[in-house]
Amino acid sequence: MSIHKTARKITTHVLQAMKAKNEKIAMLTAYDYSMAKIVDQAGIDVILVGDSAANVMAGYETTLPLTLDEIIYHAKSVVRAVEKALVVVDLPFGTYQGNSKHALDSAIRIMKETGASAVKLEGGLEVKDSIIRILSAGIPVMGHLGLIPQSINKFGTYVVRAKDEEEAKRLKEDAKLLEDLGCFAIVLEKIPAKLATEVANNISIPIIGIGAGGGVDGQVLVIHDMLGITQEFSPRFLRRYHDLATEMKNAVSNYVKDVRSMDFPNEKEQY
Ligand code: KIV
Repeated sequence: MSIHKTARKITTHVLQAMKAKNEKIAMLTAYDYSMAKIVDQAGIDVILVGDSAANVMAGYETTLPLTLDEIIYHAKSVVRAVEKALVVVDLPFGTYQGNSKHALDSAIRIMKETGASAVKLEGGLEVKDSIIRILSAGIPVMGHLGLIPQSINKFGTYVVRAKDEEEAKRLKEDAKLLEDLGCFAIVLEKIPAKLATEVANNISIPIIGIGAGGGVDGQVLVIHDMLGITQEFSPRFLRRYHDLATEMKNAVSNYVKDVRSMDFPNEKEQY
């Protein structure tokens, strides 16, 4: 029987065992109670309360404006719904860079106030001290390399990262560093599949890809993108499993029609 089926609760140790047995890890984002309940009941391994909430929940163009209070609100709602999946929470931009004490305070707030099991942060060598300090408090850390959306103003675009040798070398060094520091997993975003596979084969902790090909240990997508709630975002790596925006618009316009025509409520729908 597969590990994720027999496990009562997914932990970082379960993910490590899944990698060892070559069982792929399925991860999705969620930001609210109702969606998290559905995703958890459908058998997901990891739920990420991602700072992509800034885009899909709040309508910001980048992830930068999301605050610690806001991600904590989302994470509390998700944790209340989840029975089995591992819940990981993004540290928002400005809550962990540059000052490791500040990073630890942010991570402790997330763990104390939400009941989540781990935090995620973006970057390698440049956030080494923050990672060490957070880990020293017994808080599991997931890394995030490749396209790191919190650094959009440095890179200027969301194009594929680490295509040239120098950046690919730096990424491999950062992945090794995150492993050596004690991170329990790494997200690799939008990098060449060959490079991602090489990292997954040479690093002992699970590598979760988004736009990083099939040679890694698991996949993550933003739930609004894979369900087709967002419509304008269509990168090559995104597989849409549904056209929920169209279905929801049809349902809402049928409701509007029924209210206007007084078809709703009917006799059976009143007291
Ligand atoms: O915030 C997020 O949704 C993420 C995923 C894209 C990995 O970081």
